[in-house]
Amino acid sequence: MKTITLVLLILVSMMGRNALSQSDNIIWDETPEQRKERMSWWTHDRFGMFIHWGIYALPARHEWVKQFERMTNEEYQKYFDNFNPDLYDPAEWARMAKDAGMKYVVLTAKHHDGFCLFESEYTDYHAGNTPYGKDLIREYVDAFRAEGLGVGFYYSLIDWHHPHFTIDRVHPQRTTSREEYERMNRGRDMSVYREYMKNQVRELLTNYGRIDIIWLDYSYPGEFGKGREDWGSVELLKMVRELQPHILVNDRLDLKEYRDGWDFTTPEQFKVQSWPEIDGEKIPWETCQTFSGSWGYYRDEHTWKDKKQLLVLLIESVSKGGNLLLNVGPTARGTIDYRAQEALGWMGDWMKYNSRSIYGCTQAPEEFEAPEHSILTYNPETNRLYIHLIDYPITNYRLPGMRGRVKYAQFLHDASELLITEPYGHHRQGDIATEDDLNLRLPVTRPNVEIPVIELILYD
Ligand code: GLC
Repeated sequence: MKTITLVLLILVSMMGRNALSQSDNIIWDETPEQRKERMSWWTHDRFGMFIHWGIYALPARHEWVKQFERMTNEEYQKYFDNFNPDLYDPAEWARMAKDAGMKYVVLTAKHHDGFCLFESEYTDYHAGNTPYGKDLIREYVDAFRAEGLGVGFYYSLIDWHHPHFTIDRVHPQRTTSREEYERMNRGRDMSVYREYMKNQVRELLTNYGRIDIIWLDYSYPGEFGKGREDWGSVELLKMVRELQPHILVNDRLDLKEYRDGWDFTTPEQFKVQSWPEIDGEKIPWETCQTFSGSWGYYRDEHTWKDKKQLLVLLIESVSKGGNLLLNVGPTARGTIDYRAQEALGWMGDWMKYNSRSIYGCTQAPEEFEAPEHSILTYNPETNRLYIHLIDYPITNYRLPGMRGRVKYAQFLHDASELLITEPYGHHRQGDIATEDDLNLRLPVTRPNVEIPVIELILYD
């Protein structure tokens, strides 16, 4: 009998260990309510700027150029030797971000090529040793803080420069057979690299004051790949949390099974169908997107998204309860390319008059059906519903099921009243509105706004 109980106990405890659930806290102690509170500024702000900047701005053909073209460290060295962003003015970047309506920013302190924008004690491979000759991160942090934006770092887990980072399937010197990998990795020791990462992340999180977000990027477990064991993800994240307890962390440390192993999920260049869920629970999410195909400055890339696509990205993200992190890739002189400036301008023009449908907003309650060709967002604090007119209708606009719900209706951009009327027009083939519907009379002329927004003030 005793033996059976013992075996059962062992089995139960083993099951507990293997079947990690989203409720397991292994990294730190925090209740779901505390997490929600910690993330509340980010959930409110909805819109941030991603900045991919490094010596890959010189070749100007993707931040993965070293990998794509299988360059060795020696071949890549010319970009380090010629890095001198003489026009770097982060105050100007910060103004552009703010004018675009962005509320926080994340800059690549180190990308996969291993180059550090910050002066690190643990490597010579940093901005201080390029012709530019100084740390670029200090000024960045100060400039964005001065504009009142939340400040974040991206730090690449991958490092194609560090001598102890083992060659794997995404490395510039990737190979094909196990024997070859073994041969090439002789003498490389990931534990040395793990220590290096910890030291650098510690530098970033102690030398620059309060940091609001950290992006640790990325994992690719499996054969010739790397995951949480390789990065020492649990240890690393514990340290991050200890150094900056309020910080927000993305989900690419390969700790997805642990609910306290990440704060938000990060669909990349991907438009989600609906609010992402785990075990039926809606989870915080942020899509990161480029203006064109690459993150780093890419001179000859021509697939730039247009004004409407970019605005829809933002509106749609909020309509599904998410955030948008929109990327710029500054040039090797430190400037923001004219095309990116133009696109930021579009966002700003729209946000100046319509940000009320973005900040503090989320998915509309299910009872509200989106009218034709529109996207809804909703502010639970103010109980206002926002209808984004993706295609502008003609005169009569039917709001399904809204009769008796709307106290007042106006355009958001100019606060001009929209009349709630019976459908207007001669020779009508029956009413367009049913008993439950409401009809708004819109002006025939589309307002001078890329995507006009109707603001509905609802009855409580
Ligand atoms: C990917 C890419 C990288 C980019 C990032 C942004 O992980 O490797 O180049 O920095 O996504 O989300």
